[in-house]
Amino acid sequence: MQEILYLNGSFFPSEEAKISVMDRGFLFGDGVYELIPVYKSKPFLLDQHLDRLEISLNLIGITKEQINFSEINDAINELISVNQYKEHSIYIQITRGVDKARQHIFDKNNKPTVLIMGQPYKKYCVSEIEKGFTACIQDDYRWTKANIKSTSLLANVMLKNLATKMNRYEAILIRDNKLTEGSASNVFILSKDIIKTPKLSYKLLSGVTRNLLIDLLRKNTIEVSECDISKEEVLSAQEIWCSSSTNPVVPIVTIDDISIGSGKVGKFTLDAYKIMNDYINQY
Ligand code: PDD
Repeated sequence: MQEILYLNGSFFPSEEAKISVMDRGFLFGDGVYELIPVYKSKPFLLDQHLDRLEISLNLIGITKEQINFSEINDAINELISVNQYKEHSIYIQITRGVDKARQHIFDKNNKPTVLIMGQPYKKYCVSEIEKGFTACIQDDYRWTKANIKSTSLLANVMLKNLATKMNRYEAILIRDNKLTEGSASNVFILSKDIIKTPKLSYKLLSGVTRNLLIDLLRKNTIEVSECDISKEEVLSAQEIWCSSSTNPVVPIVTIDDISIGSGKVGKFTLDAYKIMNDYINQY
């Protein structure tokens, strides 16, 4: 059975949905997106994702009035229901719509293109989590508006593929000798017995999972510091994990063949993994 997706107010079997080659998302990557996990047929932290979508839209100059958020909300529920998504994710992409010609300057009155579709993803099992993952360190050569969840992901795509080519799970990014985030995740470290993650700025995405994890850890009386973290501190960390909506806590046990801590998944990482899983199971 072909999956059903939502495009500009209508539902289509995925292969029948079409957009114009003049769409600015296609020509310029002129758009923003969200990826929302679905657990037990329920979108997880939907409000937080839609809030961030609104922030991204605002930052690129698409106004709230141009987007029907309640329709997006309804479409997500409809897609989960008709496609019978249980453990899945929902991808939303909003671009600045179709132009008459390829031109940098956009017409403020363009109607944004709104696409919502299901997106399968690989969820790691407990034995994979307990074994841990590897990473490499790379220069963060992306633009300095990484707080916008933009569909212009060329640098992230190149960095993630470089990591994959090196048989690593993630590229951990450093700008001006400071940790920013991963190519597709936020990063936490345990250093001097304190959990640390980079403070929010235009250099990294305000991860929905990151923010929830910080809240949950603090509620469990585990201190978390949002601060600058140097490259040296990353490499000498006791523990490291990456967080994202697809896999909330992914332990990193080596970076560029340097063992992190004991080289085994640490206690704080496993605690974070458990706290997050308990929260998801009760959601
Ligand atoms: N990416 N930083 C970057 C660059 C990301 O691409 C992501 C997630 C995150 C984590 O954000 P969140 O916890 O809100 O998922 C941080 C998604 C999953 C993606 O692009 O597919």
